[in-house]
Amino acid sequence: MSKMFFPSTTMPAADWWKMLWPDPASVLRKLTLKPHMSVVDLCCGDGHFTEALVKLQQAEIFALDMDREMLTLAQGRAGNAVQWIEADARDLPTYLPKPVDVVFIANTFHGVPEQTALARQVFKALKPGGLFVVVNWHVAAPTETRVLGQPRGPRKGLRMSPIEVSKIVEPAGLELIQVTELLPYHYGVIFQKPEV
Ligand SMILES: C[S@@+](CC[C@H](N)C(=O)[O-])C[C@H]1O[C@@H](n2cnc3c(N)ncnc32)[C@H](O)[C@@H]1O
Repeated sequence: MSKMFFPSTTMPAADWWKMLWPDPASVLRKLTLKPHMSVVDLCCGDGHFTEALVKLQQAEIFALDMDREMLTLAQGRAGNAVQWIEADARDLPTYLPKPVDVVFIANTFHGVPEQTALARQVFKALKPGGLFVVVNWHVAAPTETRVLGQPRGPRKGLRMSPIEVSKIVEPAGLELIQVTELLPYHYGVIFQKPEV
């Protein structure tokens, strides 16, 4: 598969991102992450959530992004507790030594062109009982999701409701188990790979 950056997934500027997500560790706790779990931060960007995974002392942390510049920034924040992967997200299973407990993707799924195909790759990357956690912007116009006085986030046509996400992800064999509100503008959807 040839590599491709997903459209409309450029890393936001750090000033408003830190304002919007002041406590990423508490977001991860709300999304049921527990310290014993091995986790992939898929499309990790500059490491805003990866750093929080380190803080939460996840058993094993992988962080993947295709942008080397982002990985360098992320590595500066989150350090050597993370196994860094420079790759296309769609090749995820190829880069993991063994299946993991959680694949976490934040602020990126809206831009993936073939979302069910990516979910199938996530399925392969998960242990039985493992979780796929998707954090997305709620459906709204950027003018309704302002941070530091400016419209923020992807255009409304790209945003998805939790139900839309589940209709796209469940055909990959993953079951919806939880939808969590992440104020002010986001939600998290958690899917589980069935136990065999
Ligand atoms: C909007 S940023 C989100 C970063 C981080 N998840 C967060 O919420 O803070 C999206 C990231 O996805 C990465 N990305 C886009 N397409 C990708 C692909 N095909 N494979 C891997 N990474 C990709 C971009 O380089 C960017 O760093």
